[in-house]
Amino acid sequence: MSEELDLLVAGSGIAGLTAAVRAASHGLRVGVVTKGTIAQTATGWAQGGVAAVLGNISDDTEAQHETDTLKAGVGLCDEDAVHVLVHEGPIRVRELIALGAHFDRDPDGTLQLAREGGHSHARVVHAGGAATGAEIERALVAATGRTAAAVHEHVFARDLLVSGGRCRGLVLRDANGERVVRARHVLLATGGAGQLFSLTTNPLEATGDGVAMALRAGVAVADVEFMQFHPTALAVDRMPRPLLSEALRGDGALLRNAQGDRFVNELEPRDIVSRAITAQMIESGLDHVFLDVRPIHDFALRFPSLAGILAGVGLDPTRDLLPVAPAAHYLSGGVVTDLDGATEMAGLWAAGEVSCSGVHGANRLASNSLLDGLVFGARVVDAIVAGKDAAEPTGAMRSLTGRGGWSSVQVSSNGGLDIDKADLDRAAMQRALTEHAGVLRSDDSLLEAEEAVARVHVSPDDDELRNLVSVAEALVQAAIAREESRGAHARVDFPDRDDDDFRLRIVVRG
Ligand code: SIN
Repeated sequence: MSEELDLLVAGSGIAGLTAAVRAASHGLRVGVVTKGTIAQTATGWAQGGVAAVLGNISDDTEAQHETDTLKAGVGLCDEDAVHVLVHEGPIRVRELIALGAHFDRDPDGTLQLAREGGHSHARVVHAGGAATGAEIERALVAATGRTAAAVHEHVFARDLLVSGGRCRGLVLRDANGERVVRARHVLLATGGAGQLFSLTTNPLEATGDGVAMALRAGVAVADVEFMQFHPTALAVDRMPRPLLSEALRGDGALLRNAQGDRFVNELEPRDIVSRAITAQMIESGLDHVFLDVRPIHDFALRFPSLAGILAGVGLDPTRDLLPVAPAAHYLSGGVVTDLDGATEMAGLWAAGEVSCSGVHGANRLASNSLLDGLVFGARVVDAIVAGKDAAEPTGAMRSLTGRGGWSSVQVSSNGGLDIDKADLDRAAMQRALTEHAGVLRSDDSLLEAEEAVARVHVSPDDDELRNLVSVAEALVQAAIAREESRGAHARVDFPDRDDDDFRLRIVVRG
């Protein structure tokens, strides 16, 4: 990577590799940097699948998928962004199949479709039952290997290289030290930030690196108060917590409280189910409720990877009730972009979980995340190839320009606390955020979270902790500012949704 690249991608999940493969096919000089190995990403952990209306079921339509996505997002989705996601999704899924991804099919070759929470129809394609992300990552890694894209593993993207108001590359660090790589365009595809919390389904790598880099460079970030908690992470003494896919509930699994009674419609969107579970946990004093998968026939055949996880912790899905509890799963907000993934800084793009294009609003619909990476990873490249160089007032970018009925409030992510003792480590911060900024929050609890974040000791060579602290500050400040309950953000002191004051994005700048 000594000469200037056309595109430098940070991250090797679905958004990053989709972009890299597409850019290479257009003849662009592409480099990919990833802090682990190429396949070591949250994409590989994704279970449920990819939501897309592929024409298998005659009464499902893209309009229905749009309606479901908008409903799950509780009034904060950008309708144009959702239209793009739902309309281009099926095209990108077919391209992924052509690239070599194998999804589960019936004996006659028809793609199998699962139903998940918040979806009015079964429209989720999957692989290996609930091992979809692993198959997609496998196919994309193989496809990347067939291109001229240069992939650099164990390379940490420390910061954006900015001059003259433009992003011109990345400052990187690896075992040999720090160096700069120049590129005409940089794509942040660094994924999420579940490692902010002590209870999470996310891998250790999910430390909010892209959001933190953007904050340090003064690039707008929004909707970060909407950390989505997956309702059914297996409540065992292991971190990250193994996920029990939403596809199980789509297939008939039931949620039961300590008395064995059902307490929520299992197919509501995740925010509603997570809040209901948390209320049960508070009432019972237990740290879990139960998922009853006994109604699912042929569990081990249908969900072999989950059967393996359960066997590993001594649970028998045909007999046992499975302890589950919500865990941090997906950051619905991120770096603000337009409909092509362009950020407000020329030369800087973002796609996938690190971004906020407006598709997810206050709560992402199940299995729209892999779709997001596929669709917007591709759009970034198409825009670059078409010569686009500056963001337009579309998607979430409209909330920065005040156009289209959206507005935003700004908070600084500096925390502003004057605390001279820095005595907390990463684990203590994670516990504090789970306790004080988790599924249920209040002004008092968020102030406790703010103080804990201000007390974290970050050593100069701990890039990940530096990033976690930046994103934690942003999340807590945005959560304090949003004095209402909506989607993944539930305030016990402001339990109602307040469209008059808060149908807006909270924009955070570092
Ligand atoms: C799941 O399988 O429940 C997770 C899929 C997703 O996060 O959308």
